[in-house]
Amino acid sequence: MRLVIKLAGALLDDTAAVENIAQQIAQLARAGHELLVVHGGGKIFTATLARMGIQSNFVNGLRITDRETRDVGVMVFAGLLSTRLAAAISRQGVPAVGVSAADGECFTAEPMQLGEKPGALGFVGYLTGANVEFIESLWRAGVVPVAPCLGMGADGELYNINADHMAAACAEFVRADRLIFLTDVAGVLDGEKVLQALSSEECEELIRQNKVSGGMVLKLEACKRALSGGVRQVRIVGGGVPDGLLRAANGSKFPGTKVTPLFPVKRTRLPRHTAESLEAEHEVVNR
Ligand SMILES: Nc1ncnc2c1ncn2[C@@H]1O[C@H](COP(=O)(O)OP(=O)(O)OP(=O)(O)O)[C@@H](O)[C@H]1O
Ligand SMILES: [Mg+2]
Repeated sequence: MRLVIKLAGALLDDTAAVENIAQQIAQLARAGHELLVVHGGGKIFTATLARMGIQSNFVNGLRITDRETRDVGVMVFAGLLSTRLAAAISRQGVPAVGVSAADGECFTAEPMQLGEKPGALGFVGYLTGANVEFIESLWRAGVVPVAPCLGMGADGELYNINADHMAAACAEFVRADRLIFLTDVAGVLDGEKVLQALSSEECEELIRQNKVSGGMVLKLEACKRALSGGVRQVRIVGGGVPDGLLRAANGSKFPGTKVTPLFPVKRTRLPRHTAESLEAEHEVVNR
């Protein structure tokens, strides 16, 4: 099976969680699954900026990413976090490599524009393509690619991308069978109850009724996007559950939330991630 797995930033800062997830990733890779691991790390990004004395400024909840901020983003995402994850997986006996947008021009992006102020957000983008041939060559070589949430623009600059949207777009571009979000909660919650199954329409309803907020809104938007791009199923699982990833990848029963389309969508070749659709939906980037 072809799987895109997105890791929450909170998990990357927890050595035991990284170790546990790396073991499960290695086990899935050994079983012959083709895995693309995507990650962000917004909180570590913000903390690093603060340590360097760089203030984060937001417009309508979106981080203004000037050149200096972007450079720190590249250091944190492609430098520290991808490397940390690739090291943990490789230590399990399955080679993993950090593949940033710049490597083999693997992930391309266009700058995101908000409202009437072009360039107001700086180096914030959305994913427009993936070098699928390159990723497939890594899979054929038995390598697990680990992708930080960055994309390369036509201007040769790196753009910061929201990791949930990047994972959804990647799942569409590589034609993944399944997208798995490993997050810091047990799944989509209604009060204290984990919702076991949702349709994309029910996701919209939860957002409308304010039953989800913050990062979960963005995640459900990303789920809808992946499903409309032909991914058959998205699973949202607590990253701290010892065998959560294995069960989400293998079984029909798993601890978390399954999100499926009401009707199966035919895959299209054209990317659906237009600037307009993202602008309409985007509220928070890497917070
Ligand atoms: N109904 C809900 N069910 C589950 N989580 C919710 C809900 N409403 C709001 N949330 C919040 O959404 C958070 C998950 O989104 P968040 O963006 O923080 O994590 P992530 O996307 O997995 O990781 P990262 O943003 O670091 O990549 C939860 O920790 C919780 O605080
Ligand atoms: Mg998030």
